[in-house]
Amino acid sequence: MSEPHYLPTREGYDVWSLYYDGDDNALIALEEPLVRQLLNDVRGLRVADVGCGTGRHAIPLAAQGAQVDAYDFSDGMLAKAKAKPGAERVNWIHYDVTSRLPATDACYDRVLSALVIDHVPRLGAYFSELRRVCRPNGLMVVTVVHPAMLLRGVTARFTDPRTQLEVRPQAERHLMSDYVMAILGAGLRIEQMSERAVDAALAARSERAAKYLDWPVLLLFVLRP
Ligand SMILES: C[S@@+](CC[C@H](N)C(=O)[O-])C[C@H]1O[C@@H](n2cnc3c(N)ncnc32)[C@H](O)[C@@H]1O
Repeated sequence: MSEPHYLPTREGYDVWSLYYDGDDNALIALEEPLVRQLLNDVRGLRVADVGCGTGRHAIPLAAQGAQVDAYDFSDGMLAKAKAKPGAERVNWIHYDVTSRLPATDACYDRVLSALVIDHVPRLGAYFSELRRVCRPNGLMVVTVVHPAMLLRGVTARFTDPRTQLEVRPQAERHLMSDYVMAILGAGLRIEQMSERAVDAALAARSERAAKYLDWPVLLLFVLRP
């Protein structure tokens, strides 16, 4: 494999959007059922999906009856999302989520940030913003590629099938303590923190995952304001 080709985050995801949903992605295989279970019954709830990508979570949540605002700054990812069945139920918002969100204080029952914070440079400001928009009795679910992947030289990446080049949207090198301290600094309570490794069953299903057997690949937080 040649040297990774780094792109600015937004540009990287505009290209990745062409292939994102078809990727053999171990992280997503582990993350998706956990997130669905943690968010539980969202019928009638207001949900923010911050960094929604191609609507992997936003569309099923809206189909369950949630009122979903889905934020992302990649035209490519949003275009893929909007072309999917059920997309019309979601309020798609083209937005840089490192800025103050266009939402009033305490307006969401659930705030989801899935596989985004490794691209966020100022974690403290980001978590404070999630806290601001979450209702006092609300819940936040935050997932991210596990910092242990940095030890394997891995940040968010894909292979562009047109060039066979490994492309990496710009990502930060946050460690576990950076996440935890930013969360606590924003005045949030950690209700749950879990780390998931690739197990034998997943390794058998996914060639890409098999390279990381028993290695932690996913970090997940459940947070309360
Ligand atoms: C790995 S994808 C995850 C997408 C989706 N949450 C999922 O889990 O399938 C990361 C997403 O974060 C978005 N993103 C990264 N930095 C962002 C920013 N500053 N503002 C808005 N979106 C951002 C990217 O455009 C991309 O869609």
